[in-house]
Amino acid sequence: MLCLYAALSQDLSRNMKIGILTSGGDCPGLNAVIRGAVLKGIAIHGHEFVGFLDGWRGVVGGDIIGIPRTLVRGIAKEGGTILGTSRTNPFENGGGPDVIRDHMERLGIDAIIAIGGEGTLAAAKRLTDAGLKIVGVPKTVDNDLEATDYSFGFDTAVQIATEAIDRLRTTAESHHRCMIAEVMGRHVGWIALHAGMAAGAHAILIPEQKVSIDRITQWVKEAHTRGRAPLVVVAEGFVPEHMETPHSERGLDTFGRPRLGGIADQLAPELEARTGIETRATILGHIQRGGVPSALDRVLATRLGMAAVDSVVGGLWGTMVALNGTGIEHVGFQEALAQLKVVPQKRYDEAAVLFG
Ligand code: F6P
Repeated sequence: MLCLYAALSQDLSRNMKIGILTSGGDCPGLNAVIRGAVLKGIAIHGHEFVGFLDGWRGVVGGDIIGIPRTLVRGIAKEGGTILGTSRTNPFENGGGPDVIRDHMERLGIDAIIAIGGEGTLAAAKRLTDAGLKIVGVPKTVDNDLEATDYSFGFDTAVQIATEAIDRLRTTAESHHRCMIAEVMGRHVGWIALHAGMAAGAHAILIPEQKVSIDRITQWVKEAHTRGRAPLVVVAEGFVPEHMETPHSERGLDTFGRPRLGGIADQLAPELEARTGIETRATILGHIQRGGVPSALDRVLATRLGMAAVDSVVGGLWGTMVALNGTGIEHVGFQEALAQLKVVPQKRYDEAAVLFG
């Protein structure tokens, strides 16, 4: 953690013009971050805010809108982002530090608050290294950044997934079927672990744990033998023991990453063939990222947005705000990007006691 208060003394008095962007996949709570930053920035420091449209695309193109206080009125409860988002790489499409610096000078923008995930923060780090004044707010519905205990959007995604799985169970029990629910989780299985535990899954399959089809079959059969309708919760990034990489048949995204989704569809016929139990797959997909953020996410997002203004005021360029316990800290991009927050073996073993 950096010593905020030493840095804070450097620049408290000057009004600044701050640009905000939201980048990468949308996530419940983005608007609450924007509101938190704008309200604190205006009320405490008299700063002015503008928003870059559609993430780095707006930064590269110098495409902005003003964010007066009236624009953020009541938006903490709204899903999505009022600024739009994209998976644009700021070093491509005619971008790069010189182009962005020119836009900032022309538009009178002193600093940028970049709200985004791993890709966004990595790009922000490169731009900060090139001398641009950027601070970050971590956004990942997958909750996969080690440097922050929780990220906003995760709680909402887990709640949505849990509710959806509860509904699947009604059908599963009525029809005596096995249900496979696929949730998000590219590199880590936090959503699957939490939603699976909350919904009482008979098996939870996550990217961190290779599991054989034989083992999954056994769990399904055990549950069925006890008269239950077996429920399997699988993260999109799960790799069964016989596969090398996550299932992907939807091409690549703009960062060149495989678009995931569909492992549940692969598993369903295999499990049905092995168990003789009618098995259906449901892929929840973007449903998990949409709609109203939970109260927890609104509070976390608001606090992170407010803390991001402290980062700017303190000149803590190249840092992101992060949750540590119940407190907010400022962590260097380097440290923030160093490690993925994977589900520890202990947490998986704890959940696995209830499988089958
Ligand atoms: O990174 C968050 C995430 O929701 C992943 O779980 C998922 O693989 C990816 O985004 C999907 O991205 P897109 O909205 O571009 O399809």
